[in-house]
Amino acid sequence: MIIRKSPPEIERMAKSGELVARSLAVVGAAIAPGVTTAELDALVEEFIRSHGAEPTFKGYRGYPASICASPNSTVVHGIPGGYKLAEGDILSVDVGVTLNGFVGDGAFTFPVGEITPEARELLETCRAALAAGVEQARVGNRLTDISHAVQTTTESAHFSVVRTLVGHGVGRAMHEDPQIPNYGEPGRGPELREGMTLAIEPMITAGSPDVYVHEDEWSISSADDSLAAHFEHTIAITESGPRILTTAPDIDLAAIAGLLVS
Ligand code: MF3
Ligand code: CO
Repeated sequence: MIIRKSPPEIERMAKSGELVARSLAVVGAAIAPGVTTAELDALVEEFIRSHGAEPTFKGYRGYPASICASPNSTVVHGIPGGYKLAEGDILSVDVGVTLNGFVGDGAFTFPVGEITPEARELLETCRAALAAGVEQARVGNRLTDISHAVQTTTESAHFSVVRTLVGHGVGRAMHEDPQIPNYGEPGRGPELREGMTLAIEPMITAGSPDVYVHEDEWSISSADDSLAAHFEHTIAITESGPRILTTAPDIDLAAIAGLLVS
């Protein structure tokens, strides 16, 4: 069952989402060669708690940290630890914030210093795939219009969509119905309606679409160890179109990360 939110509930979700965007900006400002992913996690946990909110991920099914930090070929769910960022890395960072009973969920893949042209194209493609998916999140469209837009944007650039991982509804719980595949024929699945709140999250690789789970039982990497990217927004479907909730008026993550300015 898809739980639709009232306008006041969407305003509350926008507050959670704003803290997600600000958390990602904290990460973006701190990223540099030599910094560990555990240090980034500590910064974000402190930032979230200092705003009277909770890091949604911490303790979720036993997950031990406040962010997921997934370097290079790790697609998602990398556990922060002693890994030291190096010049040329890419780092996908996923953050969940619970505030006033509602969850915001967002992710961004950051370059560390200078990255290869292929890595840059992977990041820009994943960002564009997210934007294309969000653009389809409109009253009257069907769910897989989002999926199809993500897939075509990704595959036009000759990258691969990871098929075993999906986006999701989000609200009082981090994971609500529906699941949102990042591939598929358009025009299928539930009709999109006002008040639906969705976490749209393309996860793409520069090589194989297949993935494996590490021994830590969380980290998921590309099967061929090709580079992977992950961008995610929580959005609300309004009568006037998609509204991105994981954003803040004064924050431009792309500018912080040195990606193409949107
Ligand atoms: N954004 C991720 C998701 O939608 C967050 C889950 S990671 C966990 O699945 F650490 F919380 F499990
Ligand atoms: Co998510």
